[in-house]
Amino acid sequence: MEITFLLNGETRHLRDVDPTQTLLDWLRAQGLTGTKEGCNEGDCGACTVMVTEPGADLPKAINACILFMGQMQGRALRTVEGISAPDGTLHPVQEAMIAHHGSQCGFCTPGFVASMAAGHAAGRDDHADLLAGNLCRCTGYAPILRAAKAAAAAPAPAHLDDRAAQAALPAPAETEGAHGWRPHDLDRFAAWYAENPGAQLIAGATDVGLWATKQLRALEQVVFLSGLSALEGVETQGDEIWIGANTTIAALRKAMEGPHPTFAELLRRFASEQIRQVATIGGNIANGSPIGDTPPLLIAMGARLVLRRGAARRELPLEAFFLEYGKQDRAPGEFIEAVIVPKSAPELACYKLSKRFDQDISAVCGGINITRDGSKIVSARIAFGGMAGVPKRAKALETALIGQPFTEAAITAALPALEQDFTPMSDLRASARYRMEAARAMVLRYLREAEGEATSVLEVRA
Ligand SMILES: Cc1cc2nc3c(=O)[nH]c(=O)nc-3n(C[C@H](O)[C@H](O)[C@H](O)COP(=O)(O)OP(=O)(O)OC[C@H]3O[C@@H](n4cnc5c(N)ncnc54)[C@H](O)[C@@H]3O)c2cc1C
Ligand code: FES
Ligand code: FES
Repeated sequence: MEITFLLNGETRHLRDVDPTQTLLDWLRAQGLTGTKEGCNEGDCGACTVMVTEPGADLPKAINACILFMGQMQGRALRTVEGISAPDGTLHPVQEAMIAHHGSQCGFCTPGFVASMAAGHAAGRDDHADLLAGNLCRCTGYAPILRAAKAAAAAPAPAHLDDRAAQAALPAPAETEGAHGWRPHDLDRFAAWYAENPGAQLIAGATDVGLWATKQLRALEQVVFLSGLSALEGVETQGDEIWIGANTTIAALRKAMEGPHPTFAELLRRFASEQIRQVATIGGNIANGSPIGDTPPLLIAMGARLVLRRGAARRELPLEAFFLEYGKQDRAPGEFIEAVIVPKSAPELACYKLSKRFDQDISAVCGGINITRDGSKIVSARIAFGGMAGVPKRAKALETALIGQPFTEAAITAALPALEQDFTPMSDLRASARYRMEAARAMVLRYLREAEGEATSVLEVRA
C-alpha cells in the first residue's frame, strides 16, 4: 500500500508498506524506540503518539500499538522524539515532568508526555480523564497530574504546528480493492463491497487491531473506512439525530453533551482517551459484542440502524440487529451506514458497572427509559449488556412495569420478571448472581434518581 504522512515534521512517502503492520512496529523498526510497547492491546498507553488528522487544528493522543499503517495516510504524527524541539529544547510538559518528579523508571513517560502534549495543545484541564489510559507502575499519579497542571499555562511550541506541511501532502493513487484500499467515494465503496463481501472492513481498528497483535491473524483483504467522510458526523434531522457509522466515540461524546447528557457521561468512561479518539460507533455495534457500551443505551432510546448494501438501504430497530452471540442481521456485502436516535429522551438513564471506574469493559451496562403519565408508567424501554449473549431488551420486565405506579413497591414487585428475560453467565468480570442483582439495582437506582436522590457511585457514604 502507498501512503504519505508527516513524521515529526518530515514527509514520509512509503510505496510498499504492509497496511496491517502496526505503527508501533514500524516506528521501532525505524529506530524510533522512544515509543514503548507495554501491553500491545491498547490498555497501557506506553505506545501513545500524537496524531493530527488532515484538516484538523489540534492533535490527539492515540495508541500506536493497535493503529495500522494503512490508517496513517495524510496524518501528521509526532512521537516523543519530535515533541521536543529540533534543537533539544523540551516541551513544557517535559519540563514540568522533570520539575514535579513525574518519572521514575521512565518506561511509561514517553506515552504520558505524548498524551499530555496533546491535551496541552487543546487547552484541556480534565487531566485525570485525559491520562486514564496511561498506566504508571512506579511514580504514582499525583506528581504526573501536578506536572500536567503546571504546564497548562505555557504556550504550545511553534515547531509542533504541522498544518502547512500536512496540507501540502500529496494524495497517493488509490487502487480499488487493493489489499489496504482506503476509499473516499461512498457509492463506489458500497458497490464494490456488495460484490466483495469477504473483505475485512476496518474503522478505528480498536477491535481489529487486537486480532492482529494478540491472535496473530493474517488479514487478507482490508478496507479502511476512515477516508469515507460521508459516513462521519452527527446531524440533527427534524426530531432525530443521524450519527454516521464512522463517528468516533470522542466526537460523539461531545455531540451528546447537549441532547443526551447521560450518553455523554457513559462515553466519558468508554475505554480511554486514546481509544475514544479512534474507536467508532459503527465498530461498537458491528462487532456484536454482548458487552459493548453503546447498544444497551441506544436500544433504550429506540435507536434505528441504517444498513446499506450497494445502493439499497434498510432500517431496523437496533435490538433486531443482534440475533445471537456472534451473529448479527447483516447480509454479506452489507455495512452500517448510520444509527438514528431521537433528539430528545428526557427519561433516559444509563449505568455502566465495571470493576474499575475508568478504562474498563462493563460487567453489566443498563439503559433505562421509562415514561410516565402522572405517576403511572405508560411505556418502558429497558436494555442490558452483559446479561446475555447479545445486548437485549428486558421485555418481560417492561411488560410487568407498564400500567403500574412509578413507586418502589410496584417496581420491586415487577423486578422478578428479569429472571424471564435473562439467564446471565459467570465469567471473570462477574458471577451470574451478581449480574442479576446489579441489573435489579440499576432499575431501583433509576427510580431513586427520578425521585431526586443523589446516587453517584463515586461518593462514599458512611
Ligand atoms: C483498551 C480497550 C478498551 C476498550 N474499552 C471499551 C469500552 O469501555 N466499551 C466498549 O464498548 N468497547 C470498548 N473497547 C472495544 C472497542 O474499542 C469498541 O468496540 C469500538 O467501538 C470498536 O470500534 P472501531 O471503530 O475501533 O472498530 P474496528 O476495530 O475497526 O471494527 C470492529 C468490527 O466492526 C466492523 N465494522 C466497523 N465499522 C463498520 C461498519 N460501518 N459497517 C460494518 N462493519 C463495521 C469491522 O469490520 C470489525 O468487524 C475497548 C477496546 C480496547 C482495545
Ligand atoms: S502498548 Fe499498551 S497501549 Fe499500546
Ligand atoms: S515511571 Fe515507571 S512505570 Fe511510570
